[in-house]
Amino acid sequence: MLRTHYCGELRKKNVGEKVKLVGWVATRRDHGDIIFIDLRDRYGLTQIVFDPARNKEAHENSHALRNEYCVLVHGAVSERPVGTKNEKIPTGEIEIYVEKLEILSESLTLPFEVKDGENVSEEVRLKYRYLDLRRNSMQRKLEMRHKAYKHIINFLDSEKFLYIDTPMLTKSTPEGARDYLVPSRVQQGSFYALPQSPQIFKQILMVSGCERYFQLARCFRDEDLRADRQPEFMQIDIEMSFIDVEDIFDVCERMFKGLYLELLGKELKTPFPRMPHHEAVSRYGCDKPDTRFDVFLHELTEDVKDSEFKVFKNVVASGGKVIALAAPGYKDISRKEIDDLTAFVGEYGAKGLAYFKVEDTGLTSQISKFFNEATLKLFKEKTGAKPGDMIFMVADDKKTAYDAMSALRLKIGRDKNLIDKSRFNFLWIVDFPLFAYNKDEKRWESEHHPFTNFYPEDMAHIDKGDLGKVRSKSYDLVLNGSEIGSGSIRIHRRDVQKKIFDILGITDEECQVKFGFMLEAFQYGPPPHGGVAFGLDRLITLFTGDSSIREVIAFPKNQKGACPLSGAPSMVDEKQLRDLGIKLKPGQSNA
Ligand code: AMO
Ligand code: AMP
Repeated sequence: MLRTHYCGELRKKNVGEKVKLVGWVATRRDHGDIIFIDLRDRYGLTQIVFDPARNKEAHENSHALRNEYCVLVHGAVSERPVGTKNEKIPTGEIEIYVEKLEILSESLTLPFEVKDGENVSEEVRLKYRYLDLRRNSMQRKLEMRHKAYKHIINFLDSEKFLYIDTPMLTKSTPEGARDYLVPSRVQQGSFYALPQSPQIFKQILMVSGCERYFQLARCFRDEDLRADRQPEFMQIDIEMSFIDVEDIFDVCERMFKGLYLELLGKELKTPFPRMPHHEAVSRYGCDKPDTRFDVFLHELTEDVKDSEFKVFKNVVASGGKVIALAAPGYKDISRKEIDDLTAFVGEYGAKGLAYFKVEDTGLTSQISKFFNEATLKLFKEKTGAKPGDMIFMVADDKKTAYDAMSALRLKIGRDKNLIDKSRFNFLWIVDFPLFAYNKDEKRWESEHHPFTNFYPEDMAHIDKGDLGKVRSKSYDLVLNGSEIGSGSIRIHRRDVQKKIFDILGITDEECQVKFGFMLEAFQYGPPPHGGVAFGLDRLITLFTGDSSIREVIAFPKNQKGACPLSGAPSMVDEKQLRDLGIKLKPGQSNA
């Protein structure tokens, strides 16, 4: 070991000891004769002093030091003089007088200062990620992730789960995003798909009799990137046999309770509340409600269908909906703010935003003349609006109206500081519909994936072709408005699975090509089973309070799916392509 102690370790009780510390020069302050540096390693900072009166040679050598040089210092621990102690750091009572300095390696001039709170563009941070990760806050995030992994593995092990790896080079899975493909050299023209999740393999592991499987699984999805999406990400992937929804909730809640205590040092209340999908949509306008503040959506479709206001009337006549909310704190809203909010809902497709000011005497609005007194009173009652509030309404097709109002609700929560940031609201969303109708393609699709089971009593709806009414045995876990997990009880009977494939319009041939190996396995006594997968990166992001998933991933991809550090994706040699039997279009090659 080059060192005797870590940089965060020495205290007053160590005064007088001879020590060796290694680390990076975090700051360098020249006080005339005496030079101070803060030496940083993973564990903290220690003040290092070069004093010519104590050691001329070390002091002489210290002139060469620049920020982020990697050094080894030999010295003695001293108590800092009165008035120079630093209460902000644990080692603030001591300093090291250097007797020998060894420069282990030098550093170029830095592209940015390695310090928390520096305003550096994300692109530059990602290009020099190794410097970015030296910062204290980033080290803490890596530590938190590590602790999470450790806790999850230990907990699930204690619950008899087996950690089993599944292949990365595999076949396309049914998660619904675009696949990343890997060309085969040996079978030219054939491709592996990187897994979007281990879904099929974990179900096959249940047929294998594993009973309880888990994996910290890397998943790959080629989809448009957002703040909470990466092309490759980690799932806590779980599957269990001979269980029902309650058993999955129980294990997962206990896992999160322990994890929360381990990572945030606080008690988490379990069981988590549950909300049926239809309630999430009608009260919050989405399937991942942020329940940390009490502004709710209200449907007024029936109440306005006979009004004089043409816009609303037409929307209702064409099967649309009128959705309202009462926003607190908008008493003195300006014309410009209203225009901004209208433009905001416009981004979600809403063609307008109606608004009513709530005064002691009643509602006022440029459109109140179109509604009679009783209806205006209903608006106030149904939305629960109080004087000083503003009632906002969007009339549009169902999806647009809910999307726009859900987004407006969140914006109001943020803008008016209604969200209690100290709260961690875990919430199960249950009773999803099994099928969703794709209007553009005029066909039914799985809301989760095609292996999801449903309530047996809803078989009657399937038989009648009343597909919108079938409730699935699937569930999402939502935390503060973010979907952090999703799973279901699976169909384990081949005949039922075949029925679902038929409804989804997946032909026998397609089935055979896509999931033939799974269906084949299901001919050999598959147990009833179910599972869930949690997005680990999203979860950690919520725990650290960051706004982007990229903050908690050591080497994330940027918005364009590229890695600014390694330069991936990149061109490859002509020969590599030839081996794979791939020919690029003119202009695409690097030749
Ligand atoms: P699903 O597709 O819902 O379910 O994914 C589970 C969870 O993974 C996280 N997640 C992502 N995180 C970061 N970047 C992404 N691109 C991304 N996509 C998804 C989310 C999500 O809730 N096999 C099923 C699970 C099952 O049925 O057991 C599945 O993958 O937090
Ligand atoms: P207009 O008749 O277009 O001048 O609109 C009158 C008021 O109705 C304005 O406040 C508009 O923002 C609002 N409005 C128009 N279309 C809609 C709609 N689809 N939903 C809610 N409000 C609307």
